Amino acid sequence: MGYEGFIDELVGEIREAVGDAVAINALSGGVDSSVVTVLGHRALGDRLKTVFVDTALMRAGEPEYVMKAFADMGIPVELVDARDEFLGALAGLTDPEDKRNAITDTFYAKVFSRLVKESGAKFLLHGTILTDIEETIAGIKRQHNILAQVGIDPEEAYGYGVIEPLKTLRKDGVREVARKLGLPAELAERIPFPGPALATRIVGEVTPERLETVRAATAIVEEALADCGAFQYLAVLLNDCATGIRDGKREFGQIIVVRCIDSVDAREATVRELPWDKLHAITQRITDLPNVNRCLYDLTPKPPATVEYI
Ligand code: XMP
Repeated sequence: MGYEGFIDELVGEIREAVGDAVAINALSGGVDSSVVTVLGHRALGDRLKTVFVDTALMRAGEPEYVMKAFADMGIPVELVDARDEFLGALAGLTDPEDKRNAITDTFYAKVFSRLVKESGAKFLLHGTILTDIEETIAGIKRQHNILAQVGIDPEEAYGYGVIEPLKTLRKDGVREVARKLGLPAELAERIPFPGPALATRIVGEVTPERLETVRAATAIVEEALADCGAFQYLAVLLNDCATGIRDGKREFGQIIVVRCIDSVDAREATVRELPWDKLHAITQRITDLPNVNRCLYDLTPKPPATVEYI
């Protein structure tokens, strides 16, 4: 069966599972949730309510960018401002799994439960892919979007059923479906970005100030490497500081790590050998950020490293 037939099958499955009910889905702007949004709207029309939750953890300009891209496709999306809830839940946390759990909990138990109640939705359409499930089962990481596979019954815990149309696909398959669905290339070919967003790239506490730093570094790296063709590239803020010199004075400043990897589906990854001039240019711009005086390039493949830092 080609992808066209597969798409019809997915649309049919969503229609059947939801019946006459109303469903809801959260769009993050990544390829997985973008594909689910388009499939869901094909299947359910205005019985699917799509929300974009601003968690405060997003990249610069992301809410505006995603809302416009879907408005251009004629798909209505509601912007939900949950920044204070997420920042409140993350305050004081430094352990990686505690941070991930706080994000999962805020997303599903608080923000989503409320939206589901308000909308009367009986189902949540979710962009879980096969790799998310496999890595969670293998105990490598508790992906924030995995519920049933770690023993959480969403119906019981949160009051809605979860439908996961993409759970047999890996990232390359999702992109294929995205192209066939006619998603704009900028969305279909977007580099992966994790659901817990910039929180996965802050070692230690997530605060508004630290988010600002990693957000600015992310924008620099994404712009500098936009045409490099790598699978994923990112910036990470470490929890340590290092001594440096700024304006002739000693400064105990922050450290940003740049990562650029090649991979097929993120299960394994190798490090891209970026040209030195590119690395020097990135370093210059990153160390121009306030209180950042070191920029490191991460040479570690996956395994033993993961792609993200938490
Ligand atoms: P790791 O860090 O586990 O990342 O090697 C593998 C791929 O998955 C992305 N990633 C996530 N995606 N929710 C997601 O939707 C998550 O919780 C999550 N954690 C990591 C990561 O960006 C990489 O592409």
